[in-house]
Amino acid sequence: MIAQETIDQIFSAVRIEEVVGDFVTLKRRGVNMIGLCPFHNEKTPSFTVSPVKGIFKCFGCGKAGNAVNFLMEHEHFTYPEALRFLARKYQIEVEEEEVSPGQQEEINERERLFNLNQFAADYFIHTLHTMEEGKAVGLSYLKEREIRDDIIRKFQIGYCPSVWDAFTSHAQKNGYTTDILVESGLTLQKEERYYDRFHSRIIFPIHSASGRIIGFGGRILSADKNRPKYINSPESSIYNKSKSLYGLYFARNAIASHDDCYLVEGYTDVIALHQAGIEQTVASSGTSLTQEQIRLIRRYTTNITILYDGDPAGIKASFRGIDMILEEGMNVRIVLFPDGEDPDSFTRKHHPDEVKAFIANHAENFILFKTHLLLKETAGDPIRKASLIKEIVATIGLIPDGITQSVYVKECAEVMEVPEQILMNEVRKIVRSKLKKGLPATEPTDIIAVAEKTPPQEEFALDPDEYQEKELIRLLLLYGEAEIPITRLHENNQEEVSMIQVADFMVMDLSGDDLHFRNPTLEAVFSVYREGFEQGRIPSRDQFISHADPEISRTAIDLMVTPYELSDNWEKNNIFIETEEKRIKQLVFTAILSFKGKKLDTMIAEKLLEIQTITDPADQAILLQELKNLKQSSMLINKELGRVITR
Ligand code: GTP
Ligand code: MN
Repeated sequence: MIAQETIDQIFSAVRIEEVVGDFVTLKRRGVNMIGLCPFHNEKTPSFTVSPVKGIFKCFGCGKAGNAVNFLMEHEHFTYPEALRFLARKYQIEVEEEEVSPGQQEEINERERLFNLNQFAADYFIHTLHTMEEGKAVGLSYLKEREIRDDIIRKFQIGYCPSVWDAFTSHAQKNGYTTDILVESGLTLQKEERYYDRFHSRIIFPIHSASGRIIGFGGRILSADKNRPKYINSPESSIYNKSKSLYGLYFARNAIASHDDCYLVEGYTDVIALHQAGIEQTVASSGTSLTQEQIRLIRRYTTNITILYDGDPAGIKASFRGIDMILEEGMNVRIVLFPDGEDPDSFTRKHHPDEVKAFIANHAENFILFKTHLLLKETAGDPIRKASLIKEIVATIGLIPDGITQSVYVKECAEVMEVPEQILMNEVRKIVRSKLKKGLPATEPTDIIAVAEKTPPQEEFALDPDEYQEKELIRLLLLYGEAEIPITRLHENNQEEVSMIQVADFMVMDLSGDDLHFRNPTLEAVFSVYREGFEQGRIPSRDQFISHADPEISRTAIDLMVTPYELSDNWEKNNIFIETEEKRIKQLVFTAILSFKGKKLDTMIAEKLLEIQTITDPADQAILLQELKNLKQSSMLINKELGRVITR
C-alpha cells in the first residue's frame, strides 16, 4: 500500500499539463491549454487542461478529472499503477505503508489463494497433456471441438481426473492445507472426506484483468442430464463473479484497439472467436450482465456488441440488463445468430472472414432492434402499441447524452410510425421527472422542439420582466454552439454574410453594451458562460447541470427543459421560417432586442423619476437630452424588433 504521505507528495508535484502533454499535443489558450481529445474522435479541439485547477475536461465527450484520472483512463492504469507512474516521472520515492496485522492477513490470504490457483492450473494443464486419462478423454474432446493446440495453451485449458480426490491429495502432498483447499473451492468436504469439485471435467481457468487466475469453470464431458454441464469456483476473496468477465485478460488490447467489445455467453464462444482471430470477445459466463462488468468493459471502450444465440423470449428477458449498459452511456449493438447456432458452432462452420462479415452486417443498434422486435408483437393493436411507446421511451430516456437521445427518437418514430414530437414529449417527461428527483439526466437536444406547442410556464407569465432575461440565457444554453448567418455592411456598401456562433454573437453583443441581468442567478449563469467563452470554449450544458452552485444548476436545468414557444407572433402572422438557422437567428435577435427594449423602458422610467427630483434647470436640460436619447434608442429597437419579427 502506498503511504498517504507519498500520495500527497505526488499530487503536489504533479503538473497536469506535463502529464497530459506526454500523450496529447496542447496549445495555450488563455489561462488554459487545449488539444484534441484522446478519448473521442474530433477535428476541432475541445479537450481543455487547466494547469491552475489541475484538471482536464473535454467539452466534446464530457470526460474530466485530475492527472491520476487521466492516466487511469488513458493508460488503463489502476489507481496504484497511476500513482507509481507519476512517482517515477517526478522522481518521488514511494514509501510503502505498514499494513495493519488485519490487512496483512487479508493480503496473505489473497496471495495464498492466487498461489494455490496457479498450482492447480499447472496440475490440470499437466494432466491434460501428459496423463493417460487427460489425453484420452480431455484432449480428444477438445480436438473433437476443433480447439487448436496453441489456443488450448493460451487459455491454459486443463483436465481434472475422474479419481475423486486426485487433485486434492496431490495438493496436500505439496503442503496445501485442507483449509485453504476448501476455501478456494477446489476441494469439497463431505463429513470426513475431501474430494475434487471439478473431477472428470475440462478446466477453464478464469483470469483477472491483469492475468492472475482467480477461479475456474469446469465442463463435463458426458451428456449426463443429472449433472450440471458447467460448474464454477465459488466466490472467494479473489473471485467475485459479478466483477469478472471470462477472457478479458486476453481480449483487453483488442477491445481497446477495435473500440468495441463482443459479449458472448459461454467459455467456448470466447475460445472459438479468439481462435478465429476475433479477439475483442469476452463472456459473462451464463449470468446476466452486472454494472461492475459493464464498468470493467468501459475501461477499454464505450461500445458493446452482444452476440446472441437465444430465441426472442430469451432476448426479451435480457432487455433490462441491456438498459443498464445504455445507462452507463455506452452504445449497444446486437447480433442475432441463425437459429440453433451459437458463436462457437457458427465459427466452426465458417471461415473467420465470413464470421467477421456476418457480425459486421448483422449488428443492429439495440434500441432499434428492441423497437422492431416489440413492434412485431403488437400486431397492429393500438393499446399494445401505446405501451410499446412507453417502453421504448423509457429506454431512450436512460441515455445520458441528449444528442444521442434525439437521434433515437427520430429513428424509432420512423420505425413505429408515430410523430417524432410525441416520442420527444414522452422522453422529456421521463427526463424531467428524473431531474426533479435529483438524478442525472439530459434532455434530448432538439432544436425543432422549440416549436413545440406547449403553453408558457406560469412563472414566465407571472414575471414578464424576467422573461426577457430567461429567454436570453435559455437560448445561450440551448443553442450557444449553433451558427447563424449575420449580414455585415462593408465600407464600400457591399453586404457580406458570414456564419457566427450564437454564443459569440450574444456574448459580444451583451458585453459590448455592458448590460446586466436583474436576476442575480441569471447574471451568475451568464458570467460563468462568458468566462468560459472568453477562455476559448463554450461551456457545455452538462457543466451547468452539474454546477457546484445549486442555484445555478437549478436555474439552468429549469431553463433548458422549458419548451417555451416564442414564435407565437410568427404563427399568428402566418410567417414561415424555412431553415433552422434562420429560426434560431430569429429567436436570438428577438431575445436580444426584447431584452434591450426592456432595459431601455426601465431606464426611461428611472430617468423620468430623476428629472422630477432635480430643480436646477441646467441639470434638467441634460437629463431631458438623455431621456430623449433613450426614447430614440427605444424606438429604434422597437422598429428593429418589428422588422425581425415580421421579416
Ligand atoms: P458448450 O456446450 O460447451 O458449447 O457450452 P456453451 O457455452 O454453448 O453452453 P451454454 O450455451 O449451454 O451455456 C453458456 C454458459 O452458461 C456456459 O459457458 C456456462 O458459463 C454457463 N452454463 C451453462 N450450463 C451451466 C450449468 O449447468 N451451470 C452453471 N452454473 N453454468 C452453466
Ligand atoms: Mn456451445
